Amino acid sequence: PRPILLTRHGESRDNVRGRIGGDSVISDAGELYAKKLANFVEKRLKNERAACIWTSTLQRTILTASPIVGFPKIQWRALDEINAGVCDGMTYEEIKKNMPDEYESRKNDKLRYRYPRGESYLDVIQRLEPVIIELERQRAPVVVVAHQAVLRALYAYFADRPLKEIPHIEMPLHTIIEIQMGVTGVQEKRYKLM
Ligand code: G3H
Repeated sequence: PRPILLTRHGESRDNVRGRIGGDSVISDAGELYAKKLANFVEKRLKNERAACIWTSTLQRTILTASPIVGFPKIQWRALDEINAGVCDGMTYEEIKKNMPDEYESRKNDKLRYRYPRGESYLDVIQRLEPVIIELERQRAPVVVVAHQAVLRALYAYFADRPLKEIPHIEMPLHTIIEIQMGVTGVQEKRYKLM
C-alpha cells in the first residue's frame, strides 16, 4: 500500500483577515507549518524515491511546499480553490451584509450553489476528475498541498463519504491526512503538526 498525503496550505494572510479566494502569501504561522511539513514529508517518504508533490497554481500552496526538497513538484490548475467569482476577496460577513440573497442561497444548498461568475462544489468535484484518475494511477506516494473545498472533495472520494456531506467536511489547517489504500480498504491517519 502506498500513502496519499492530503494537506491544506499553511495559514495564508487572507485566512488571517477572513477573506475568501485571492492569491495571498502565507503568514508567519503558515511559514512555520511549511517547515514542519517538509520535515514530516522528508522523514515519512525517506525511501520513496518516486514520490512527488502536487500543488495548485496559487502562491499559498506553492510556498507551503517550497521547503520540501528531494521530490519533484507539479502544479495543477484543477487543484486551485473553489472560484468565489464576484465574492472573491470578501469576508463571509461582507457577503452576508452586501449580498444577503447570495448568502442565503449558499447556506440553503452549499453543494449546488454557484457563486456568480464562479463555481459550485459540484463544479469543483467535476474538475477534480482528472486529478483523481491520475492519483489512482500513481504507484508511488503523492503529497497533495491544496485548499479546503478541493480537499473536501478529494477526501470524500477516498473516504467514500456521501456527496451531500462534502461542503461540510471538517478540513483543519496544519494537519496532514494520510490515506492508505490497501486490499482491505482505505485506512486513514491524521497528523496535527501545530
Ligand atoms: O475560500 C474558500 C473556502 O476555503 C471554502 O470554504 O466552502 O466552507 O466557504 P467554504
